[in-house]
Amino acid sequence: MSIRNAVIPVAGLGTRLLPATKSQPKEMLPVGKKPIVQYIIEELHLCGIERALFVTGRGKSSIEDHFDDDPDLIRTLREAGKEDLLEELQYERMGVHFLYTRQRRQRGLGDAILCAEHFAGDEPFVVALGDSIIGRHKPSLIVQRLIAAFEAHEASCAIAVEEVPMDQVSMYGVVKPASDSEVFEITDLVEKPKREEAPSNWAIAGRYVFAPSLFSAIKQTGFDHRGELQLTDAIRLMLREGKRVVGVRLPREEKRYDIGNFESYFETFVEFALTDPEFGPRLRQHARELLK
Ligand code: G1P
Repeated sequence: MSIRNAVIPVAGLGTRLLPATKSQPKEMLPVGKKPIVQYIIEELHLCGIERALFVTGRGKSSIEDHFDDDPDLIRTLREAGKEDLLEELQYERMGVHFLYTRQRRQRGLGDAILCAEHFAGDEPFVVALGDSIIGRHKPSLIVQRLIAAFEAHEASCAIAVEEVPMDQVSMYGVVKPASDSEVFEITDLVEKPKREEAPSNWAIAGRYVFAPSLFSAIKQTGFDHRGELQLTDAIRLMLREGKRVVGVRLPREEKRYDIGNFESYFETFVEFALTDPEFGPRLRQHARELLK
């Protein structure tokens, strides 16, 4: 496996989660015991990622604090014999190197990724959106399968996709698959289409692999009606230039948890808390009493 770099855009304002996100990043909201970003780093680490660049923005510094080394805390935990907590907090043991850069203005996902141009250099890289967890009982290996598909098909882009109900297509980027296979060529894609204009109900699921040629495609992409540079539009441009774009389907057991709005955040938190090995059984009992 040759791809070692990942970009994690976390600059979004999180307005759909106000007031919870008034002074804390949505990516730091807890899901069960851990903040969302920690799940993402654990997933990427399992898939061989060694360098992670967070594209942050105003009010996001607690993400950096979370991944900082904290010798005082580590010492206190060690003295108290809390080995299990130590395991979960010593990120540097994973060997992931954390870097941060800032998107200075809110100009869309494409613009956020452009901030990673120097970081990526001439090498392909992974993009993992900071507001999605994939897999519950164990982290998903979708990024590994994306890398494998990217390499096997000599693609310029590989995208994870998930099936969504037709009435939700307007919330996502939606792809047009060329076949029914697990890994398939994408012949077109549209960002947040109307239901009647959607090319399928396979939605972009927040994990991608890109060749560095993405950056020139983003630079040629125009701003949309909201003044944003859409990543999906840049990928569409790559397709029009004759580059190969492949999709990899997420199986049901590797469900994607979207934390971008309260409805799915609540569902995600409850699902993770109810299945927590330590606190889940008691919570399930409590929930049954509440629901009587
Ligand atoms: C972004 C992407 C979209 C993708 C979605 C997945 O949209 O632009 O293509 O389907 O993430 O979560 P956002 O949720 O940031 O509006």
